[in-house]
This record gives sequence, C-alpha cells and structure tokens, in this order.
Amino acid sequence: MARSLHNILVTGGAGFIGSNFIHYLFEKTDFTGRIVNYDALTYAGNLENLADIEKKFGGSRYFFIKGDITDRPYVEHVFRDYAIDTVVNFAAESHVDRSILGPETFIKTNVFGTYTLLDVAHHAWGKREDTLFHHVSTDEVFGSLSEEGYFREDTAYDPHSPYSASKAASDHLVMAYHYTYGLPTTLSNCSNNYGPYQFPEKLIPLMILNMKERKPLPVYGDGKNVRDWLYVEDHVAALWLILQKGKSGEKYNIGGENEWENIHLIRRLISFVAEETDIDPKELESLVVFVRDRPGHDRRYAIDCSKIKKELGWKQKSTFDEGLRQTVHWYLTNDGWCARVKSGEYQKWIEKNYVRRI
Ligand code: NAD
Ligand code: DAU
Repeated sequence: MARSLHNILVTGGAGFIGSNFIHYLFEKTDFTGRIVNYDALTYAGNLENLADIEKKFGGSRYFFIKGDITDRPYVEHVFRDYAIDTVVNFAAESHVDRSILGPETFIKTNVFGTYTLLDVAHHAWGKREDTLFHHVSTDEVFGSLSEEGYFREDTAYDPHSPYSASKAASDHLVMAYHYTYGLPTTLSNCSNNYGPYQFPEKLIPLMILNMKERKPLPVYGDGKNVRDWLYVEDHVAALWLILQKGKSGEKYNIGGENEWENIHLIRRLISFVAEETDIDPKELESLVVFVRDRPGHDRRYAIDCSKIKKELGWKQKSTFDEGLRQTVHWYLTNDGWCARVKSGEYQKWIEKNYVRRI
C-alpha cells in the first residue's frame, strides 16, 4: 500500500537538521501535504530558521506547535487534531559534550521521548499500512573505528558517550516497535552534518565564528580524530527518499564518504575564512590551541552508505569544498542570526513572534 505522506509530524523541526528538512520539503520537492513542526524550543531550537516558511505556508500547510515529545497527552492531541500519518523524529539532545556534563535530559528526551512518540503512533495508527515512523539517528551508536573499516547497517552497536548510548536505546525501541507491534518504521544513521542554522557549539560553526572574532580555536586532544562530513542538504534529501521509497523495518546508513582529521578540517576552514575576509591566515593559525581531550572521545567515524545508494538511488551532491565555502559564507554574512543565537536573544524573539498552542 502506498504511503500517505500527507500530514507529517516533524519533531525537533526548529533545530539544525529539522529546519533544513522543512525548507527542503517546501522549496525543493513536489511535497504537497502539511507539516506540523512540534518542538520544545530548548536552547537548540530557533524558529527564526523558519520565519520565511511561516510567512509563506503558516496556517495552511505549515503549523508550529511548542511541545515536548515526552508530554504524552499533548502528543496524542496533536496526532488527533492534525490526522498525523507520518512522523520524522529529529527531536533530541544532540551535543556530546553536554551529555558528558549532564546526561539526564538526554535520557528523558532521546529515550523516553522516542518511546512516547512510538507508543502514541502505535495506538493512533493501529494496523494502518499507509503510515510511517522515521527515526533520525547517528553513526555514533556504532562506537569508534581504528584506521581501517566502515560502519555498515549490520555493524554491532557499541555507543561510548551518554549521547550515543541514549540514541542507541532509541534506535532499539524503534526496531522493537516494528518487530513487536508491526509499526511501519524506517531508521537512518548519519555521519556529521554541517551547513546553515547549526548551533555554534558544534565544531564547524564554532570555529568559523571564533575566527571571525579572533577568539581561540580549541582543538580537543591531538586533533587527529576523524569525522565523515556531510552537507546537511544531502542528508535531508536522503531522508525524503527514505520516506517515499524506504522499506518498512529497514535501516539506512547515510554518510559523506568524506573523512577529515579535525586539525586538517580546521586548517581548511582557516583558508576559506581568510579568503572571505581580510584576516591574515597566519593570524588565524595562531589562534589554534590544543586543549584537554573530550572524555571517551571516539577516534574515527566512517560510513559505508552503499545500501542507500544502491537501493534508493541517493548520492551526495555537494563536494566538501563547495559545501564548506557556502557554510563559511552563510555564517559570515548572517550577522543578525549569529548575534541573536550567541546572546540568547533568539529565545526572546521567539516568545514575541510565535508560540502557539492548540
Ligand atoms: P539540534 O540540537 O540542532 O536540534 C534538536 C531540536 O530538538 C531542537 O529544535 C530542540 O528544541 C528540539 N528538542 C529537544 N528536546 C526536545 C523535546 N523534549 N521535545 C521536543 N523537541 C525537543 O539537533 P540536530 O543537529 O538538528 O540533530 C537532529 C537529529 O539528528 C538528532 O536526533 C540527532 O541525534 C541526529 N543527528 C545529528 C547529526 C549532526 O551532525 N548534527 C548527525 C546524525 C544524526
Ligand atoms: O557523527 C554524528 C554526530 O556528529 C551527531 O550524532 C551529533 O549530534 C553531532 O553533534 C556530531 O557529534 P560530534 O561529537 O562528532 O560533533 P562535534 O561538532 O561536537 O565535534 C566534532 C569533532 O571535533 C569531534 O572529534 C570533537 C572535535 N571538537 C569539537 C569541538 C566542539 C574539537 O576538537 N573542538 C571543539 O571545540
């Protein structure tokens, strides 16, 4: 039976990847349905990312609701009121360093929140086959690689941080709801994303903004940890493909096939920031400072994404240089967004401009 894909509940849609997904669906696909963006607006949620979408589609095809995924009665209400037939679950606490400092909200949101969504979907949908619960997850559930090898869909889970352990638990719950109750599900494990609207606690935006302000560039450990970088638009394009064509019960790995040691990546950023500004690259290089390592810092992530390429016809469109240049340009030209995010002003902006409850 064909999927309905008409009333999509996007959780965490005000965050980095969720807001890029909503932009992508409205602006770059033939999607004709409605999106309900359900987001608790934690420090990482910023409705300014979607101001143009609200203006164009708000109240007709786009609806924002401030709510927590752990709030079962409210989630049930939303399912009923908007006749939700599809869930794309982005909502999460997403930053590894924060999970080390305070794991509790990671367990609440990532584990209990995902359980709540799954259970509400299961009871709301019954045996319907035109529905889909897609869970957005991470390659960090697989642990750490040495110099050789890749994460595949059948790689055993071996999470190391409270963040990745909470995401691993949520992945297991998704599969459990599929096997036990027959809930139509798909799951994706993606590598490190970069691009517009990423909160500047994550490596790439943090480095760009620190360079702009001539602040220290903190490199954890020896700087030789490897990440596999993917432009966010390539990630959300993969998610849209999975919603349309992904097989229920399947997992898909998504990655950039683009491995960089952190220190090499930072040097690449230095040359792009220097090109975009009048700052001397030598001055930027002098800002690099090696600091105490992240506890339990995974050494290398690398994704084998041949399954989604072969089965769904996905491939990365952006080269790293293109994506990185666009990202540098975006952070250096969106001064207002950056200033409001860094000062916390965006939360006041949201209170004034939005916040609708049903
Ligand atoms: P983000 O931190 O930018 O956004 C998370 C969003 O979830 C925010 O808008 C926040 O307000 C919302 N949220 C948090 N707790 C909530 C709750 N209890 N109820 C409702 N909403 C809540 O995260 P992101 O980088 O956009 O990541 C989105 C998803 O993708 C996460 O599940 C993450 O694990 C996964 N992921 C991220 C990356 C990456 O590189 N950023 C890579 C692979 C997978
Ligand atoms: O792999 C996917 C994951 O990528 C996602 O699941 C997470 O939500 C996302 O935050 C990201 O996790 P990382 O821990 O890999 O991303 P982060 O940007 O925090 O760090 C990237 C690398 O850079 C990592 O090796 C740590 C290092 N780092 C990070 C920061 C913030 C530094 O050396 N200095 C820094 O200041």
